[in-house]
Amino acid sequence: MKEKINNISIIYGSDSGCTEEIAKRIGEKLDICDSLIKEVSETKEEDFTKFKTLILGVSTWYIGDLQYDWDNFFEEFKKIDFSGVNVALFGLGDQYGYSYNYVDGVGILAEVVLKNGGNVFGHWPNRGYQFDESRGLLDDETFYGLALDEDNEPEYTEERINGWVTKIREELEL
Ligand SMILES: Cc1cc2nc3c(=O)[nH]c(=O)nc-3n(C[C@H](O)[C@H](O)[C@H](O)COP(=O)(O)O)c2cc1C
Repeated sequence: MKEKINNISIIYGSDSGCTEEIAKRIGEKLDICDSLIKEVSETKEEDFTKFKTLILGVSTWYIGDLQYDWDNFFEEFKKIDFSGVNVALFGLGDQYGYSYNYVDGVGILAEVVLKNGGNVFGHWPNRGYQFDESRGLLDDETFYGLALDEDNEPEYTEERINGWVTKIREELEL
């Protein structure tokens, strides 16, 4: 049997469980050890720097804010030295209900990673999405990471995850 990946961690925060479910689905598709898929409220600084590759999952709440547990951890997060760490991000949001703040959380985390010396990989095109503004955008055509919308477009989620996982595998040469 093929060994599971034991040097990539997924760290997520989730209020109502959607981001948690997606974190597990991504973990399964990438064949990452279950024990390395962690809720941010249960992590310490060393969980973010232990491996060269990290995947962060975040939902956006209250008009452009980080999900509750990410928000609680954010002061500590801002102090982490991400030098030498490759970070991929995925985010959940609601394009129609929060069209000016769609997946802002992805941008809030990505900005810190970049400022603190990390590399952000796994960018994702914004083609096909419908929103007005997002801090999750790296430029006019690209999100820092995978953007999902379980509120309005759950039917696209599987296809989006599969496309992104393929991209992650290619970029990491897995
Ligand atoms: C009160 C409230 C505020 C929200 N604010 C935003 C927002 O500012 N931007 C956004 O993209 N989504 C927003 N959302 C949508 C959530 O991010 C979305 O429902 C997500 O799937 C929740 O994931 P979770 O259960 O893993 O936390 C909001 C949802 C609620 C109920």
